[in-house]
Amino acid sequence: MPTANPSGYSANEGAASASQIQPAKGKLGVMVVGLGAVATTLIAGVEAIRKGLAKPIGSLTQMGTIRLGKRTEGNTPLIKDFVPLADLNDIVFTGWDIFDDNVYEAAAHAKVLDKEQLEQIRPYLEAIKPMPAVFDQYYVKRLNGTNIKTGKNKMDLANQLRADIQAFKKTVSRVVIIWCGSTEIFLEPSEVHDSIAAFEKGLEEDHINIAPSMIYAYAAMKEGVPFANGAPNLSVDLPFIQELSKENFAPICGKDFKTGQTFIKTVLAPAFKARMLGIAGWYSTNILGNRDGEVLDDPESFKTKEESKLGVLDFILQPELYPDLYKDIYHKVRINYYPPRGDNKEGWDNIDIFGWLGYPMQIKVDFLCRDSILAAPIALDLVLFLDLAKRTTGLCGIGIQEWLSFYFKSPMTAPGLYPEHDLFIQSMKLKNTLRHIMGEELITHLGLEYYD
Ligand SMILES: NC(=O)c1ccc[n+]([C@@H]2O[C@H](COP(=O)([O-])OP(=O)(O)OC[C@H]3O[C@@H](n4cnc5c(N)ncnc54)[C@H](O)[C@@H]3O)[C@@H](O)[C@H]2O)c1
Repeated sequence: MPTANPSGYSANEGAASASQIQPAKGKLGVMVVGLGAVATTLIAGVEAIRKGLAKPIGSLTQMGTIRLGKRTEGNTPLIKDFVPLADLNDIVFTGWDIFDDNVYEAAAHAKVLDKEQLEQIRPYLEAIKPMPAVFDQYYVKRLNGTNIKTGKNKMDLANQLRADIQAFKKTVSRVVIIWCGSTEIFLEPSEVHDSIAAFEKGLEEDHINIAPSMIYAYAAMKEGVPFANGAPNLSVDLPFIQELSKENFAPICGKDFKTGQTFIKTVLAPAFKARMLGIAGWYSTNILGNRDGEVLDDPESFKTKEESKLGVLDFILQPELYPDLYKDIYHKVRINYYPPRGDNKEGWDNIDIFGWLGYPMQIKVDFLCRDSILAAPIALDLVLFLDLAKRTTGLCGIGIQEWLSFYFKSPMTAPGLYPEHDLFIQSMKLKNTLRHIMGEELITHLGLEYYD
């Protein structure tokens, strides 16, 4: 049965029709919460690509292809030619931050991109200045900024964010919001998150379990604007937000961009499991020296990140199904703040595996990655796909967009459903969702027809 909702859209369970998708006409406004390393690398990158100065490496929407029909048909268009995505030239950026640096200054501070590269697009970046943020140091201990909204309570702050969104909406055709802000302290869902009424009462009463990220998510949902959550904060992972998301047809996805170590983990772990190799221990440690590293140096913010990073192996390995292989795995994740490295993180993994008759083996991975270089294309794909999801009017489901799990460390799912972490299953799910919304046959990889 289709899921009814007050907005009149319905989750489609029958044959999809591409004609149901609204075209990507006009400007797509992208509102970024937190103009730090990831956000400035995204914004500067999109502008450099638009100007022909660089290529969108790492972006599935820009470089990826999708096979249609049988392998013998040779029909593999670019994804962006197959589904109606917004053109990069139609993206307009704005955002909020607790520091009032414009995007050029913030990018120079983040030191992800070369100075020379930033100079080529300097006037464009300087013109993007952050709007005052909703922030409270209680939720991010290591930060202290001055570009902050004040109001009589949290509801007042939510209304100020809604006014920002409404004003931006007047200048573009459609809006998407993406959280690229800091990781907040560890919070668990509580009664104040159980219903829209409870949350709104909590906003009026300045409830302590309402973090700024939730206020942004609430404002987005009230305005019917899709929201992607790049950090491990609860934000859109709460029952009342999911209710609002469906009510106002504002697709949501999260959480925590899957970029470096966890990306590699979700490639390796399914491979060991596919071959029925056992794992005794997996020790992961990181050093990074950017502002994110500094924020995560606070134990309360680290706890939020740790939960997000630790969940992956349990779900992939299913120790309850394979007790001989994974029951006793020792999994540890560490993040160490080490300023000299800046955004160039180093992630080490020591993996103790065992094979035939229980004989032990070891694998060492040393990933010298660039955090924001990996995250920026993910952020781009997410805003383009969320905008598409909104325009499909329900063809890829309403509320949580599980097909975007591919991009997240802790993918959101319907209540009671275990998340799919295996990168290749996630990739297949994403591409099949695109085929589905365009009315194309799904690809199961059965392939018997080639041998008839
Ligand atoms: N870079 C990656 O590979 C990666 C991967 C996964 C998740 N993340 C997450 O993405 C987020 C951004 O990472 P980053 O490296 O850009 O960090 P960053 O510290 O460079 O940027 C975060 C920005 O958010 C701002 N901010 C904090 N609270 C805010 C609020 N309430 N409103 C508006 N702005 C706020 C900060 O002032 C800062 O400028 C972090 O939560 C990080 O954990 C990053």
